Amino acid sequence: MDGTLILGGTGFLGPHAAALALARSRAVATFARPLGPPVWAVGRRPEDAPRYGTPRDGVQWVTRDLEPEGAVTALLEELRPKRVLSCAALARVAACEAEPERALRLNAGVPAEAARWCGQRGARLVHVSTDLVFGAGLPGSRAGFREEDPPAPVSVYGDTKARGEAAVLEACPAALVARLPLLIGDSGGRGLGASDSLLVAVERDETPSLFVDEWRSPLEVTQAARALVELLGRSDTGLLHLAGPERVNRFELGCIVLEEYGVGPEEARACLREARQAEVETGGPRPPDTTLDAGRARRRLKSLLEGPRASLRRALGGSVAPEA
Ligand SMILES: NC(=O)c1ccc[n+]([C@@H]2O[C@H](COP(=O)([O-])OP(=O)(O)OC[C@H]3O[C@@H](n4cnc5c(N)ncnc54)[C@H](OP(=O)(O)O)[C@@H]3O)[C@@H](O)[C@H]2O)c1
Repeated sequence: MDGTLILGGTGFLGPHAAALALARSRAVATFARPLGPPVWAVGRRPEDAPRYGTPRDGVQWVTRDLEPEGAVTALLEELRPKRVLSCAALARVAACEAEPERALRLNAGVPAEAARWCGQRGARLVHVSTDLVFGAGLPGSRAGFREEDPPAPVSVYGDTKARGEAAVLEACPAALVARLPLLIGDSGGRGLGASDSLLVAVERDETPSLFVDEWRSPLEVTQAARALVELLGRSDTGLLHLAGPERVNRFELGCIVLEEYGVGPEEARACLREARQAEVETGGPRPPDTTLDAGRARRRLKSLLEGPRASLRRALGGSVAPEA
């Protein structure tokens, strides 16, 4: 048993995690094994996934549909990885409302199957979940929801992800479930995630409506991926929140994104429309505040978990002032 398997390696988050896992693998290469342990990234369409900072053939891309019962177990038996990052999901709120059975299979059934295998074989499992397991109530403080708070989702997506968390920890008590917030950052030109989708809309001369009454603790995607890869090398168990330290509303976040991409503050505001959740028809229920308190992760991990402005500036190659 060796190597790292990224389930959902072809989505927004997965290719970043695959690139960082490969870098870590190369760092432990030996004379006898110059490339280090393998890294596999799985999805249905690996040909569409961006290759970040790695030679094109560094990560081993695997084409597989994980939805059929037994598919993930068969894959795990075939590759026998030592570490598994589980981030395959039906991750769009509207898609989950439209196809709840499929959402249940992908967001709970597949991770549970992976967890059973990892539990039996002693493989390290980090499963990725979401802040949207919360939302029916408000966080107890401005710092946000803590790991101890009980899940209370409002959408099929949040509900199936919460079921996935519980199923993973039951089948593999040594696993870690990492809850992520809204992710921003580079999606390799695919318009995925909260910042690239906004940039695409603004480039098309649209004026996106962004909510002033929807609060999140966004995290830049490479910082999320780095923290997840760090967790693959650790033995923490249970739940852990990975999130930025700032609670911002979606309109504020939109302004920050445009400004960090070089638009002046006044122009950035003019590119966007301030909206309220109740005014806009969306593809599913949207919780007002799912801010995550990531204090525990910040105390434990070496990986940076910065706010949206500092992390985008860092990702875009600008200079970043040290955190206060
Ligand atoms: N993006 C966010 O803001 C955010 C926030 C919080 C939590 N999360 C969580 O983070 C994880 C990754 O999210 P993401 O934004 O990267 O999602 P994404 O872009 O939608 O990617 C989903 C991944 O799952 C794979 N997948 C879906 N159905 C599959 C199937 N039947 N067989 C095999 N693979 C399948 C996709 O691969 P193919 O399409 O190639 O099949 C893709 O690699 C998810 O667990 C999500 O719940 C995301």
